[in-house]
Amino acid sequence: MENNVSYDFDREISRLGTGAEKYEARKSLFGKADVEPFWVADMDLPTPAFVTEALIKRMNHSMFGYTTVQDSLYAAIQWWQQSQHGVQVGADWIRLSPSVVTSIAIAVQAMTRPGDGVVVFSPVYGPFFFVTEHNQRKVRDEPLLRDHNGQYAIDFDALAKCFKTHQPRLLLLCNPHNPGGRVWRESELRQLVALCNTHNVTMFSDEIHCDIVYAPNRHVSLLTIEDARDNCIVAHSIGKTFNTSGLNASWVMIPNKEIRQRFVNTQELSHCGSVNLTGKIALETALSPEGAEYKQALVTYLHENIRQVVSRLHTIENASVMRPEATFLTWIDLRAFGPWPTVMKRLIHEANVALSGGTFFGPAGQGWFRLNCAHPRKNLLAATDRIVNTLNGAGLR
Ligand SMILES: Cc1ncc(COP(=O)(O)O)c(C=O)c1O
Repeated sequence: MENNVSYDFDREISRLGTGAEKYEARKSLFGKADVEPFWVADMDLPTPAFVTEALIKRMNHSMFGYTTVQDSLYAAIQWWQQSQHGVQVGADWIRLSPSVVTSIAIAVQAMTRPGDGVVVFSPVYGPFFFVTEHNQRKVRDEPLLRDHNGQYAIDFDALAKCFKTHQPRLLLLCNPHNPGGRVWRESELRQLVALCNTHNVTMFSDEIHCDIVYAPNRHVSLLTIEDARDNCIVAHSIGKTFNTSGLNASWVMIPNKEIRQRFVNTQELSHCGSVNLTGKIALETALSPEGAEYKQALVTYLHENIRQVVSRLHTIENASVMRPEATFLTWIDLRAFGPWPTVMKRLIHEANVALSGGTFFGPAGQGWFRLNCAHPRKNLLAATDRIVNTLNGAGLR
């Protein structure tokens, strides 16, 4: 389809007064109410107008009672998965879910028992740990290695040992990876699937970041690995791509009937197998050819943001930056600058930026910081320059 809509991602739109967590939690989390926030992973870029217009149109109606799920919603999800990720998804594989984290919790409850092991590869998105622990399961953390390019890699030898020793029942994979921005290769996924199948470990693949991938990288959904299909749960959402996390709209895809039934039964225990009216409208509107055009424009904009941010951050002596292959997040190693709480304070008070501290991503994240690049470029680069200047001045203090 011809791209004839242009998106103005440079426009700055204030989020003050909208209850945005990124802004409202600044005082309580960072101790400074006016620090510029580049932490939580939502965008300071607008949801495309065709989605907001569909929401407004429906909101102008005066009744918001119970709603059904139309087949067209499942068809939109199927279309997106096929056209954007080359995955043919059966309509009956799909279950709606309020959020990906909810789906992680349901999967943990459905596929494991209290005391069972759940494998995570740290550093990784914090709720992988919290949800497992809140459900009285045991986190089996297998820290990622760094490959010769400085990118994260799975330690398959350690994983095989972990499987033999601890017999975990579930593995949580972040695909693509937050915070490192790694796009797992097909060969890595095949190796992982073979190991999980041998040891009877079910895989949960969180693919929430999979739409934002930078060429020449290509997202490989776990669903495209034939041998994974009988042993996996794959989750996706419009939250990241369309900046709709507050609308709570996501879904899982489960090809295997038995696993799906366990997931559904567990959802039903808490009556949480649906999304609300606004989520349904946003899902169906976003997962469309218009949505695909918007996504392409967004990825182009974010790629340039990332390129410029990474090249600036590379000028910090003694820091190292992981260039993301996917996601709008940049992962920065600031361990050389002293204890992380001190570095955090300097970033807040000298650079006036709030980043995500690495300990949110598990022990392997200590001393690292995550910078959210989904902001209008001018502000983002100004903040990056302040970080660079603050840290490059470190030797003078
Ligand atoms: C890897 C990953 N999974 C899940 C989420 C949250 O998704 P949801 O809001 O649908 O629970 C995030 C948000 O940052 C994330 O990075």
